[in-house]
Amino acid sequence: TIDQKVNALLKKMTIEEKIGQLNQYTGDNSATGPITINPNKQAEIKAGIVGSMLNIIGTKYTRQYQELAMQSRLKIPLLFGQDVIHGYKTTFPIPLAEAASWDLTAIELAARVAATEASASGIHWTFAPMVDIGRDPRWGRVMEGAGEDTYLGSKIAYARVKGFQGNKLGDLNSVMACVKHFAAYGAAVGGRDYNSVDMSERMLWETYLPPFKAALDAGAATFMNSFNDLNGIPATGNAHLQRDILKGKWDFQGFVVSDWGSIGEMVAHGYSKDLKAAALSAITAGSDMDMESNAYRYHLAELVKEGKVSVDLIDDAVKRILRKKFELGLFDDPYRYSDQKRADKALNNPEHRKAALDVAQKSIVLLKNENETLPLSKNLKTIAFIGPMVKEYKENMGFWSVELPEVDYNKWVVSQWDGLQNKVGKNTKLLYAKGCEVDGDNKDGFAEAVATAKQADVVILSIGESRDMSGEAKSRSNLHLPGVQEDLVKAIQATGKPVVVLVNAGRPLIFNWTADNVPAIVYTWWLGTEAGNAIANVLFGDYNPSGKLPMTFPREVGQVPIYYNHYSTGRPAKDEDSKNYVSAYIDLKNSPKFPFGYGLSYTKFNYSDLKLSSTKMKNNETIKVSFQLSNVGKVAGEEVVQLYLKDKFGSVVRPVLELRDFQKVKLNVGESKTIEFTIDKEKLSFYNDKLEFIAEAGDFEVMIGASSADIKLKSDFELL
Ligand code: IFM
Repeated sequence: TIDQKVNALLKKMTIEEKIGQLNQYTGDNSATGPITINPNKQAEIKAGIVGSMLNIIGTKYTRQYQELAMQSRLKIPLLFGQDVIHGYKTTFPIPLAEAASWDLTAIELAARVAATEASASGIHWTFAPMVDIGRDPRWGRVMEGAGEDTYLGSKIAYARVKGFQGNKLGDLNSVMACVKHFAAYGAAVGGRDYNSVDMSERMLWETYLPPFKAALDAGAATFMNSFNDLNGIPATGNAHLQRDILKGKWDFQGFVVSDWGSIGEMVAHGYSKDLKAAALSAITAGSDMDMESNAYRYHLAELVKEGKVSVDLIDDAVKRILRKKFELGLFDDPYRYSDQKRADKALNNPEHRKAALDVAQKSIVLLKNENETLPLSKNLKTIAFIGPMVKEYKENMGFWSVELPEVDYNKWVVSQWDGLQNKVGKNTKLLYAKGCEVDGDNKDGFAEAVATAKQADVVILSIGESRDMSGEAKSRSNLHLPGVQEDLVKAIQATGKPVVVLVNAGRPLIFNWTADNVPAIVYTWWLGTEAGNAIANVLFGDYNPSGKLPMTFPREVGQVPIYYNHYSTGRPAKDEDSKNYVSAYIDLKNSPKFPFGYGLSYTKFNYSDLKLSSTKMKNNETIKVSFQLSNVGKVAGEEVVQLYLKDKFGSVVRPVLELRDFQKVKLNVGESKTIEFTIDKEKLSFYNDKLEFIAEAGDFEVMIGASSADIKLKSDFELL
């Protein structure tokens, strides 16, 4: 068995070789933190004191590095890790955008394709999925997660792990997933990256941990810990998180890698007095592999000698890592993932682009569509396509995309301009003006943009954030459209032409004037390789938009953090405008600009006929909830129907409503379907103040909505 092989190998290893397995260095490809690398890294690999590399990509380089490891005494293969976050060569929408699709099959397929391409290029391990709940759009890393909701986030976490890992580790098309960042990184104070988190244990279990558990249930091979401290203890040195919860209660058998330099950063946290103390805290707390801190490399052996770290502790970490190397088949053939023939095929597979287009169009959210401005007619004579994003290529890939040196992205990515050109016939003239840059205060291009708009039947304006404005270390205090872009919208709108605005972004942005005045708004996020085609399909109705927001869009930054499933307060605002000693801001409406779960379609859906199999539910019984969904509009479409529950009274205060199920349903014109959900005890359960996961007897409300703020049907029932 693998365990026997691991134990036999372990017996042959010196303490230096064991510690080497816990040591991970970056290659030269990219750096997302200070590089503390030892200049002798190649010599160290030959000496068998490096276990893993990140940022070495491609069959050629992974082979070269693996050859060094094969010169070491015990020939233990290296593991190659990489941030394959939303695609490898074929870039998929940023993860937050994919979450807007609410399409678990498409999301799983996106991860599958990424794994197929990466694993053929020598990569064994992706640092994904990020499953941190994001309730604060100032935090730039919300782009990398699945949004604010724990239920949706858990489903997506499960799907992504399944997609990356496939049927089993060791299959050639699979990479190990790394669930990150354990834990609660999304709750960093003020949305500032790398910041502190202080939260109740109950909040941790109720809101932040479930997506990690879901990823583990899907078989996730590895976890990454986190930069933040949690209740005063840095996550990297946090035994409660890593030992008690992850490796204890959840019995996780894989290994934990630190975040980049996060062991060393415990010194800056003021938690460890020096790197040696940090190494001691990290290994004791359950961090198995050291990414780029050199803490284990330089201090673990000494700590063992001094009796502060037991060999058993080291052995446990080493075994966890070796087990994965065996499972991946690296001891049979250390080069099996670095296969140029397979890479050539995988990286140019047209099916991958199809999958990217499919999920890209499903990720688009139609925010506004007055006067049926959209879809556009294919017989328009002149369209003006204006804005700083129109002719961009790489921008569409968003943050955390892999850039391969051999790829010409101006050919590989379909720009928004190219997409529109592919779509319109010869009889339609496409005009272009840039108007302005994404950022800065230069309005010199406005006159040309306005003149261009005046010549057109319709104007499409593509604006938003540039791709390096959302991502790691990209927190923003200002969520408004950057620069003079909203002024450009005003100038174009003043021409009186019908205007469609495309917003490209990695987070919820604020664009109140645009939202209140422009007839059509499409939220495109960053859509990846097929961005241009996906956007064109939606604009012309070849794909009927079906995306729904996975995060609440605030009216002003002052509302942040803002999320739909907040707890019931003692003084709830009665309506949108009530201000009289209620929980509200006196200078703002009481609602978000766009709520969680919101998104329009070109057709209309009717919800009717809610039925509950019973209004009394005994413990361990279930209730079936059914209703009719009908497409009463003019085109076929998909609707994400959302089931929310409210526990009316609890032994602890409960949220005003919580998503507990959803389905994405496709209906032809005039078609009706009976949609059925099952409510079981788990859906009614929560963590009480003793941290027991229980369902309490009492009154509940079940709501069926087209969004968290658009409840179409509801009914009460009782848990006996
Ligand atoms: O995987 C990432 C992590 O999410 C943030 N810090 C760097 C790691 C490796 O690039």
